[in-house]
Order: sequence, then C-alpha cells, then structure tokens
Amino acid sequence: MVRPVTDFESFKCGTMKNIDSATHTRGESIYLDDIPLLNGTLFGCAYPSAVAHGIIKALDVSGALQMEGVVKIFTCKDITGENQIGGIIPDEPLLADGHVHFCGMPIAFVVATTPEIARAAVKKISASIDPLPVITDPREAQRKGELIVPPRVFKMGDTDSAWAACEHVFEGSADTNGQEHLYIETQGAYAVPGENNAIKIYSSTQGPTAVQRAVCKVLGVPMHQVEVDVTRLGGGFGGKEDQANMWAALCGLAAFVLKKPVKYSLDRVEDMAMTGKRHPYSSDFKIGLDKNLQITAYEVTLYQNAGAAADLSPAVLERSLFHSTNSYFIPNTKATAYSCRTNLPPNTAFRGFGGPQGMFVIEAAIAMAAESLGVDACVIQKKNLIQTGDEFPYGQKAASEATACWQKAEQLYDIEKIKKETADFNAGSIVYKKGVALMPVCFGISFTKTPMNQARALVHVYTDGSISISTGAVEMGQGVNTKMLQVAVHVFSVDPSKIRLQTTNTGRIANTSPSAASATADLNGKAVLMACTAILSRLKAVAAEEFKQDADRIEIKNGEVFAAGKSTGCDWNKLVMTAFLKRVSLSEHAHYATPVIHFDLTKEKGHPFAYHVYGTAVLVAKVDCLRGIYEIESVKVVHDFGASMNIAVDKGQIEGGIVQGIGWMTMEELVYDAAGVLRSSALSTYKIPDIYSVPKEIAIHFLDTDKDNLAILHSKAVGEPPLMYGIGAYFALRDAIKKFNPSDVIPFSAPMTPEKVLTALYPVNNKETADAVSSKEKAVYG
Ligand code: MTE
Ligand code: HPA
Ligand code: MOS
Repeated sequence: MVRPVTDFESFKCGTMKNIDSATHTRGESIYLDDIPLLNGTLFGCAYPSAVAHGIIKALDVSGALQMEGVVKIFTCKDITGENQIGGIIPDEPLLADGHVHFCGMPIAFVVATTPEIARAAVKKISASIDPLPVITDPREAQRKGELIVPPRVFKMGDTDSAWAACEHVFEGSADTNGQEHLYIETQGAYAVPGENNAIKIYSSTQGPTAVQRAVCKVLGVPMHQVEVDVTRLGGGFGGKEDQANMWAALCGLAAFVLKKPVKYSLDRVEDMAMTGKRHPYSSDFKIGLDKNLQITAYEVTLYQNAGAAADLSPAVLERSLFHSTNSYFIPNTKATAYSCRTNLPPNTAFRGFGGPQGMFVIEAAIAMAAESLGVDACVIQKKNLIQTGDEFPYGQKAASEATACWQKAEQLYDIEKIKKETADFNAGSIVYKKGVALMPVCFGISFTKTPMNQARALVHVYTDGSISISTGAVEMGQGVNTKMLQVAVHVFSVDPSKIRLQTTNTGRIANTSPSAASATADLNGKAVLMACTAILSRLKAVAAEEFKQDADRIEIKNGEVFAAGKSTGCDWNKLVMTAFLKRVSLSEHAHYATPVIHFDLTKEKGHPFAYHVYGTAVLVAKVDCLRGIYEIESVKVVHDFGASMNIAVDKGQIEGGIVQGIGWMTMEELVYDAAGVLRSSALSTYKIPDIYSVPKEIAIHFLDTDKDNLAILHSKAVGEPPLMYGIGAYFALRDAIKKFNPSDVIPFSAPMTPEKVLTALYPVNNKETADAVSSKEKAVYG
C-alpha cells in the first residue's frame, strides 16, 4: 500500500492527541445519524426539479399522498413564514414557487413514517415544467447581464500606462472547474418540537446561527424559539457553511406544522445532485514584465459561475480578488470580477473560498510568460515575491514570510538537485517524463466581511473542579475542539481530563459566525483565553486572601497552588471549592472581536486580514506519455505555522489540504451537460483522490515564526492555505508534458485529467508534434 511519508523537524510545542481520536477509532463519535431518535419521529425527503430552468405548470402529488405511511407533502404554500433562505441576498426560495432555476431545486418535501417510504413517495411525484433557456456558462451569463451583484474592481497603480514600459506582455485565459465537497457525512437535520412552539434542530452545519436564522425566517418565529445544536460534522469543507440551512428549514417547518420530530439525512446521490459546489471560474489575464523579469503590470477578469442564487458567491468573489496576485508584489494591478447567474445549483464556499481560483490565474500567467521566454517559471516567481512593507492591491501592507519560506524550501529540499535529477531522468526516458513546479501561497486570515470576525466562549468551573467549555466553534475534523481544550489547559494549568468541550449550541453561544475562513480557532480560542483568564484571576484573588499574598504572586501549576513560589498544599479542586463557598463566580462568558481590521468597500482598500499565512511547495509529477496517466510523486512544503500549538492536528490539515487540492487540479471532473443536469452525480463518475493518489512523499517543514501576531497563542490558522499547494500539481504536470512535447500549446484548464493529458501529449491537429510523436514511437517500438 502506498503510504504518505511525513518528515518533521523537532518541535517545541504541545503534542496533545486529537481529543476525538479514541471515540473515532472505536466508532463511538456522535454524528447526526447517531442521535437516538424519539418515538414518533417522521422522515423527510425532497422532490427535486429534473429541469434546470422552467415554469411549473402542474404538480401531481396524488399518487404519493395515497401511499401508506405518507403523512404530508409540503410545497411552498405550506410555509408558515417566508419562502426564503438566501443568506447574503434574499434570492433563494426554500421550495420552488412556480419557477425552477436549477436541476435539483426542491419543489416539494415528503414526510412519511420511514425514510424508505418518503423516498418511494418522491418517485411517485411528477411535475410538468415548461422549459426556459438554460445558461451554464458564466461568460454567457455575463453577456446577458445575469449578474448576482455589480462587478467588483480592485486596483493599484495604473496598468493602462504601465503596459508601454513593459518589455514583455502576454495575454491568455485560464479556467478552473468546480469541486464536489464530498464530506463523508452527507447533509441533514433532525428537528424536534418543544413546548410553546419551540423547535430544537440538530444539524450537520458549520453555521449554527445561519441555520437558526434560516429556520426562523421560514417558520416566521423569533430566534429565541429555535435552538440549534451541533456535536460535530463528518466534514464540511465549506459545503455546510450556508447549505445546511435548507434541510434544517425543511425539517423545522415539518416539525413545526406536524408537531412531530422530523429527520432528513440525504443519501449521497441526493446530496451531490442538490447541493452547490466550488465555483468554476473562467478568466482572462494580461501580464507585463520588464527586462529583469520583474512583473510590473497584471490585469485579470474573473467570471465566477455562481449558479442560480447568490448563496455565498459575493463573498467568495471578493476573496478571489484579494488573492488574485497570490504571493507576489505587482505595482500595477487591476482585477475585475463578475459573479454570474447560471442555472446550476448555487455554488458555495469550498476550502480556500475563491482564493484558489484567483491564484490559479496568476500562476497561469507566470507559466505563460516563462514558457514564452524560455525561462524557468520559478525564476519569475521568486523575483516577484512580496516583501515586508509591500502593499497588496487592497491596501494592506505585507508582513511577508514569502521569501523566507521560499529560501528555506530551496535549502531543505535542494531544488537545484531535484531539477537536475528530473532533467537526467527525462534525458534517459522516452515514455515517462517528469515535471517540477513550485507553488508559493499567501492566504489572508479573517472573514473578508469585517463584522463576522467576532466570537464568544462560555466557561464554567464546577464545584468538583471539572471545567466545561462552550464556544461557537464547530468541530468538523479540523481539530478545533482539541485546540480549545489546549487553550484552557494553557491558562488553568490543570489536567486535560478535567476539561470537557460541549456541543455547539445557539442557546449557550449566540450569534456565532460560521466555523470557516480558517479563523475558528483564532476567534473562538481568543474568547476561551479571555474567559479562562477572567476566572483564573478571580481564583487567584481567593488564593491571595487565603495565603495572605499578593494575587500576582499566586500561581497554579499542574493543578497545584503556589504562593510566592512555594507550595501551599492546596490543589485546584480545593481552591475552586473555597471560591464557591466565598460566593465567587466560577463562570465567565467572554467576547472577542479581532482588532485592527477594517475595509472600505467604496474604495476597495483597507486592512481586511489579521495576518497572512505563507508557504512554498515543491511538487514533482511523473507522466506516462503513452497512456496519459500520471502520479504526483512528491510534495515538499515549508509552511508558516507561526508557533503551531498542535503538530499532529496541523500536519493532518496540511496533508489533507494538499490531497484535496491535487484532486481539484487533476482528477475531480465535475460535468454538467448543456441542459444543466449533473452528469458526474455519483462516485462512479466523479473520481476523488484515494490513498493511491496520495503522493508517495509529503514532506512538511515548519517556518517557525513565533512572532507577535493575532493568531491564538501565535499558532497561525492552517485550515485552508495548504489546499493551494495542490495548484502546483497542474503546473508540474504541464512541465512534464512540455518535456515530451515542447512545442505544444496546452490550454490553462484544470482539472488536468488523464484524458486532457493525453490530448495535450498528442494534439491531432498539430503536424509538427504528430511527426515528433511518431518518431518517438519508432524509438520506443522500433
Ligand atoms: N478539515 C477537516 N478534517 N474537515 C473539514 O471539513 N474544513 C476546512 C478546513 N479543514 C475542514 C477541514 C475548511 S473549508 C475550513 S474554513 C477550516 O478547516 C475551518 O476550520 P478552522 O477555522 O478551525 O481552520
Ligand atoms: N471565508 C469563509 N467564509 C466567509 C468569508 C470568508 O472570507 N466571508 C464570509 N464568509
Ligand atoms: Mo471554509 S471554505 O471557509 O468553510
């Protein structure tokens, strides 16, 4: 079996195991489907539109209604509040109201006594829909004026006048396809009615408050009437930031009306057909360099395929602009972005949140310049890395680790040697060719929407000394609960077994931002830090009184109380009880809001990010030039962790992100046909990376920058940035193909599936290559 090898530098910080590891391994962790059901629970299933765009002429539910066990079939007419679940823009009905906008759009919701009956009943529903023209292409949508929001433009310097001074100018286009989230746990919700019309929703969501808002709007009830509870997710990857709302609203509505618990847990095919994905982008670029290969001007136009409703598209679009120059400083830039309405399911957040799409284009532009000028792309990349003090096109000044990561990668991995070995290999091989790419990454940490950068934590110390922590953070496999526990251990200095992380619950923590933007540990961790610190200082005051010392001379170390450096014989439990008897509060609710950040939308300038995360990856690909199949052999990174507070968790994030990024760039091919029907609708037609596609070698080295930053305990956010190392896979493959077929013109179009590699290797309409190929074939076969 191919196994990833990870090699680590010695490391000074905590090595606590993920607190979920034992229950995960024993299969005891609780997901939505593991919640014991109440007596009388009913089961829902959505009836989706089979047509991507049209007017509903008739809906026939009679056959379904007659089925034994079918309790009710909800349509938009049964909605007690508003038929609206749009988060940023109210443009998304929960259930179609006369009009369908994408294939998979729910038209009706069947509720029955078993999930099997509900699914069978859905098959008996029929709708007669008059079709309307279907748009699947974002450029066509833009031409027809179908925009979700007005275009956004980020500008720095003056590109118009910069072109004249450029020695080299190149223009082209670059496309990236979407990506299915494929969280292991599908979407779903379980709604339980309570007294006085209250509803409790168990949801597989990254955004408990988003679910609460959507349910309240649809039901027409105030937010205090709806409680949302999340234990953990079997993965979200952005797909449950906004798109968990629909199932929660459907179940909530049914539970509210029928006064019975209602559950809907989507099967894989339903999930793939009805939910939105990473946004496909189509882009045009123009890049200008001076004679020293300094990039002096860059223009890019991004066409985002938003799908049929806004969902999070405007925010995703914004992040594409923020990251349109990746890790580079380009004095004259202009980036324009269109969010284009098409008849696909509304596309949504996906790890990187538009950043990867923006970065692919600048990397394509650099690759085009390098290939045309006959220089190595990494020469151009390295020369243009952003330096501390340089300005991003949105006005923020960089505190850059770009060059530090790059140089450390050069030293540690001996890139010259990798290149030489690859060249030697290629010289001695006709059928197999290897390619190398470097991929620098710079990713801004904070929600791009400033008001979202706030979080709260509720900490209770019980009289037996045990501690309970609630935050707005949702555990989705990224290990945030482990990090929250580490923060509390750091402050209290007690045994981790004393601390328990509670479920994420809107009754305990209100108005949460979704767990997203890689900022969950920072935001919620700071709130935990504040709450624990407040309780600790009260406990210290109690001890100071007990031991007749100044509070600042009291210390709690490993569960023991020290006064002026001497053991007091009093332990944590005893101190807690003493405080309780003195009627001192052992609970604290803290609020954290990221300081410093701001953004002026009228100028498109500001300081939107608390900080940036940097890194550099070196990727090697090997292509079988007869078959078009390939391997990403190795990915070696130097990553800016700040001071990682959990090596195992962070290493898992990097390895997972890299593999997910490689999947997006290579094999995951989302196919909608011209009618807007998803053709890659199951795992038989949509290939995701498995253990065999994991690079044989993944090396991760730390750029240890224990600097003063806004990260929690200086441990920088790690959730999304590593995905973008995977972009290098496309360019390493491209490099390998060029080694076989140097004159080939390969479109910048990801994913680079084996089919595309094969067509690139053997372009049928290129006489020159055809001749070259046949002579190579002769060399191989004689
Ligand atoms: N890791 C796992 N195992 N599962 C996930 O769903 N989501 C990713 C990333 N890593 C995800 C994950 C995404 S899209 C984000 S934004 C971050 O985790 C969210 O968590 P964080 O803010 O705690 O990093
Ligand atoms: N990242 C993820 N989710 C978001 C963001 C962001 O920057 N802004 C709003 N929702
Ligand atoms: Mo992540 S795409 O911000 O959920």
